[in-house]
Amino acid sequence: MKILGIETSCDDTGLAIYDSTIHKAHHLLYSQVESHQLYGGVVPELASRDHVRKILPLLLALLEQANCSLEDIDGIGYTQGPGLSGALLVGTTFAKSLAFAINKPCKGIHHLEAHILAVMLQTTAPTFPFLALLVSGGHTMFIYAKEFGVYEVIGQSNDDAVGECFDKTAKLLGLDYPGGPEISKLAEHGDSTRFNFPKPMLNTANLDFSFSGLKTHVRRQWEEIESTKSNQADIAASLESTIVDILVTKTQKALKQTNLTQLVLAGGVAANIPLRKELNRMCIDNKVEFFNPDLEFCTDNGAMVAYTGYRYLAIDNHDDNLSIDVHPRWPIKQQDENT
Ligand code: KG4
Ligand code: ZN
Repeated sequence: MKILGIETSCDDTGLAIYDSTIHKAHHLLYSQVESHQLYGGVVPELASRDHVRKILPLLLALLEQANCSLEDIDGIGYTQGPGLSGALLVGTTFAKSLAFAINKPCKGIHHLEAHILAVMLQTTAPTFPFLALLVSGGHTMFIYAKEFGVYEVIGQSNDDAVGECFDKTAKLLGLDYPGGPEISKLAEHGDSTRFNFPKPMLNTANLDFSFSGLKTHVRRQWEEIESTKSNQADIAASLESTIVDILVTKTQKALKQTNLTQLVLAGGVAANIPLRKELNRMCIDNKVEFFNPDLEFCTDNGAMVAYTGYRYLAIDNHDDNLSIDVHPRWPIKQQDENT
């Protein structure tokens, strides 16, 4: 099967064609970063307009790259939520109209399920059940992935997501959007032991997080010191190591509580190298198998949606009508119960 994947939940237009016979995806991404950088964050209306402009030229380029035509496409997976409603509507309308035109089935995909399953595109992939630590710009959660399509959230942030904490701190320090990669680059030259930032909820029995206090603490600290490059780097390094420490400690706890022996790291923040390294080290110490997606499949992309679409369409699970509806807020649990 060749499945087209369409991702437009936020500020990246991601398209891919997943080919199940070779278990590989051709993918293309148009990043809107430059349009939003001016504003220090994503402007929803601009995001929708950019998706409208780019999606069709991107599809033509992808078909050429994958050396196939629309007749070769067996079905379409598209991100139906959660995300920005205007942005989701662009991808959903495009997907359903195309499915109608080529007379092929389509399936609305949960963005977080796609992030978790991105790891399946690796040569060594986990088998269900496993624990997923999902860390992105909008979510920070532990997910007990019981079987394909059945997910239970067993812990999450009570306030900011980790990616948001990186992004807001980057804005405070005058760095570009998105902030995670910028903070991480800067952190390489900083002293991670210089500031002792708080680690909220580190020792609570549950698997929840809180990051808003940490963000406020960092802001107060920054206001007290001179805005030099070296102070900036020390703040970045201290913040990054604090976040990594919180995530690793809580993940170890989640693994103990669930008795799961496989860990999947997913979402945009999974591209953070110190986080990948420290989780890997902790997993080795605890005899847990660690899986993370390729760097290009951590942040939003069409390949993860194409692959997830394939998993549903391969078992004949598809949308039963062509009405356009999106789920900007959409809890992840048993996927078919949600729709
Ligand atoms: O999954 P994603 O692309 O979009 C959402 O679904 O939210 O995640 C984007 C988030 C942003 O907050 C970005 O700053 C963060 O992922 N991010 C990183 C890194 N690369 C992206 N955070 C830390 N280190 C990175 N290398
Ligand atoms: Zn995402």
